[in-house]
Amino acid sequence: MDPRILLLAALCLGVAIAAPMAMRDIQITFNNSGLVWRDSNKMPLYERYQDRVWGCGRMWSLTPWKKFTLFSEGQVASRSCGTEFVVSETGSCMNKVCVSPEILHIDKNGIEIKFENMYKNETKTLSHSDMTMQTRCFSGKSLMFTVITDRTITLPSNDFRFKFVVYADCPGVPKDVIMESDKDSEELSKAAELEAAQTMNMILGIVTAGCFCVVFLIFLVITYCYFRNNPDLKRRHHSEETRPLRK
Ligand SMILES: *[C@@H]1O[C@H](CO)[C@@H](O)[C@H](O)[C@H]1NC(C)=O
Ligand SMILES: *[C@@H]1O[C@H](CO)[C@@H](O)[C@H](O)[C@H]1NC(C)=O
Repeated sequence: MDPRILLLAALCLGVAIAAPMAMRDIQITFNNSGLVWRDSNKMPLYERYQDRVWGCGRMWSLTPWKKFTLFSEGQVASRSCGTEFVVSETGSCMNKVCVSPEILHIDKNGIEIKFENMYKNETKTLSHSDMTMQTRCFSGKSLMFTVITDRTITLPSNDFRFKFVVYADCPGVPKDVIMESDKDSEELSKAAELEAAQTMNMILGIVTAGCFCVVFLIFLVITYCYFRNNPDLKRRHHSEETRPLRK
């Protein structure tokens, strides 16, 4: 067998295994009713979570394959709304939570965006007078994020807007990590159900990728056999290529 075909088969297998492990980017939008969950992946991690509104104070688990993007366009439920991120894969991740600011506008006093680590010794408060923040990691395995608007601000407001990416720092993650259970927040009674959904998503991912690979491989083998059994085609091609040299 042609070594190129073997190489391709190996590549396909790699893609099939890696496809369901793609990084999940979960968007959490602050709106007037709470926190809205949205998984932008074509195969969402938890179907039932899509566009669902969660109460303020909710905890989310950070894993090597899951990051969160926090959004708000001038809305906060009940003037002050917080949410917490907890690194759940402590074996493969560092004991820290990282934040990368992408959009930040605070045009008035009376609006505060606050990050506080679990030891309460690292705090970053963003306001109209301090809008500077670099990408940084807070020590400890959990981080609290709070948005506070005082009575002088009428909601919804055009005076603030933000987008922060929150992720765990997990160097050299083992590939089987997605198999581990993911216990988001207090919904522990539903953990088994969620796990089943997650496994189903992964199996679907492998099957889909596998099917694509098989179709591609068959196509490749046919093409290969066709050209090998038609020396005419090869010769004609060859003579065409070399013709200019003979002149
Ligand atoms: C907040 O999000 C929920 C879910 O998407 C939606 O039903 C509700 O209308 C939203 N509120 C605003 C003000 O957009
Ligand atoms: C906060 O406390 C933790 C644990 O005691 C420590 O590792 C970290 O360096 C401290 N951070 C600061 C800025 O002192």
